[in-house]
Amino acid sequence: MPRPLIADDPLLAEARLAATRAYVPYSRFRVGAALAGPFGVIRGCNVENASYGMAICAERTAIVSAVVAGHRRFDRIAISLPDSPPGSPPTAFMPCGACRQVLAEFVGPDFPVLIDGVGEFRFDEIFPYPFVLPEERSDS
Ligand code: THU
Repeated sequence: MPRPLIADDPLLAEARLAATRAYVPYSRFRVGAALAGPFGVIRGCNVENASYGMAICAERTAIVSAVVAGHRRFDRIAISLPDSPPGSPPTAFMPCGACRQVLAEFVGPDFPVLIDGVGEFRFDEIFPYPFVLPEERSDS
């Protein structure tokens, strides 16, 4: 179960700002993400494409931006989906499975995930069984 958010948490404000930058001419569904770490805050937004399947989610643009800037250690992430109508079920505000797997590359089980309008989760509450490549593989 998620814990209550602190309404004026600045990281939520960063995720909402990031959503305003979304490039979404096809879905009109804006998403923003904000990653906090020792470096400060790095934002991401979804970026769509005329070739629909090439859309990139906000969470992944944030992670990729951070890695490109040289950062791989993160303290928290906030995610905002302002185009889900108020009163929608929590599932309308959650990050997609692909983004959870990409986050799993860089964060641990207790990593805080702040979902705007829903609450704060530990990462392992929303993604308990990530794929992890085994270190030893048989040749085939
Ligand atoms: N989207 C995200 O940016 N993050 C998610 O976790 C869910 C979906 C985007 C992809 C697409 O641009 C739009 O939301 C509708 O699916």
